[in-house]
Amino acid sequence: MNFISFLLFSALYTCLASRLGDRTLPELSASGITTLITTPDPIKNVDPSNPASHLSKILIPRVSDTENNTIVRDYIVSTLKALQWHVEIDEFTDKTPIGTKRFRNIIATKDPTASRRVILAAHYDSKYSATYPDDQFVGATDSAAPCAMMLDVAEALNPLLDERKKRLDEGLEDDEDVADTTLQLVFFDGEEAFVVWTATDSIYGARHLADKWASTYLSPHGKRRLMGTQSTELTGIEHLILLDLLGAPQPSLRSYFLDTAWLFDALVSVERRLGESGAFAYGEEQGMAPEKWTTYFQPRTELKINMGYIGDDHVPFLERGVPVLHLIADPFPPVWHTLKDDATALDIPTMRRWNLMLRVLMSEYLHLRPEDAQPHSAVRRDASEL
Ligand SMILES: *[C@@H]1O[C@H](CO)[C@@H](O)[C@H](O)[C@H]1NC(C)=O
Ligand SMILES: [Zn+2]
Repeated sequence: MNFISFLLFSALYTCLASRLGDRTLPELSASGITTLITTPDPIKNVDPSNPASHLSKILIPRVSDTENNTIVRDYIVSTLKALQWHVEIDEFTDKTPIGTKRFRNIIATKDPTASRRVILAAHYDSKYSATYPDDQFVGATDSAAPCAMMLDVAEALNPLLDERKKRLDEGLEDDEDVADTTLQLVFFDGEEAFVVWTATDSIYGARHLADKWASTYLSPHGKRRLMGTQSTELTGIEHLILLDLLGAPQPSLRSYFLDTAWLFDALVSVERRLGESGAFAYGEEQGMAPEKWTTYFQPRTELKINMGYIGDDHVPFLERGVPVLHLIADPFPPVWHTLKDDATALDIPTMRRWNLMLRVLMSEYLHLRPEDAQPHSAVRRDASEL
């Protein structure tokens, strides 16, 4: 993303089809949370010392339109296909300052028939530099770790999403809020500038996808009752939650947009409940025990205007009225765009904590029921381990 461009935000939402607005998310029970944060192991996917972890598979130089970029993309695609998600590649070419390049966004959808979706996104390309590939820049926080966290969320929530679909199909639940909402993961390509960040040398993938989705009209559909007649792929997005520059210890994040302030608050609530329950501490790692952990989130201002924002993959969506939650360390990690942004910049307890927070936030958003998933073990472990 762009370090210097803080712009004033003035997009209008009124032109868009109605969307679900502020909500109070149902809170998971203590036993639900215990099950969710222990299964699967919240470290294994983000452990850089394990060569088989999702993180290790992604943590290689992976500049757009290179063989390594394809290796990483194939890994992400096969991981999500193994979970039986619907995976699409949005492929295109664009001019860059160093010639025409081919880019490929990865779009993975749990239920492609759903009319709405909440998107978790990050970029999977790594930054090119004039010394590439000698420099071996791997962009650990930028954004290998966020990509690995997204795969962790997919793996943790997959059986719960299946359960929810079964409940809805069998008429056991009529959940107005989220019955038509699925989880989608977008791995953007070409986020990084090849030379210097400008409007045309940056966020190649996001610009292409937002443009394409804004002009992809959907045929009328019974389930699309909340949407206008001019529904596009873009209007079906409830929220775009963009992760960037995460994985280094004790980040500081803030809320940028008034319309998603409630979702930011919901994440702060997840963090507080997990922190107070002791979930952030484990084994020898007691630095984030209940009396010791401190929040990752800056207090929200009472101002009634949107804050400036940081240029990143969300901007083309934001400009088209998509509600965005931008989860980015601000200030950026000190290793940003240096060769030090490698495995040594990452902190396992921090990445584990992000996995827990994202699992719980997305489960509460989607009304999942982890407490039903493994009733016996959940009851046995209830609270005692929290
Ligand atoms: C591709 O990734 C491997 C690590 O798996 C690395 O050794 C190699 O240098 C990378 N190639 C380029 C061109 O960056
Ligand atoms: Zn970057």
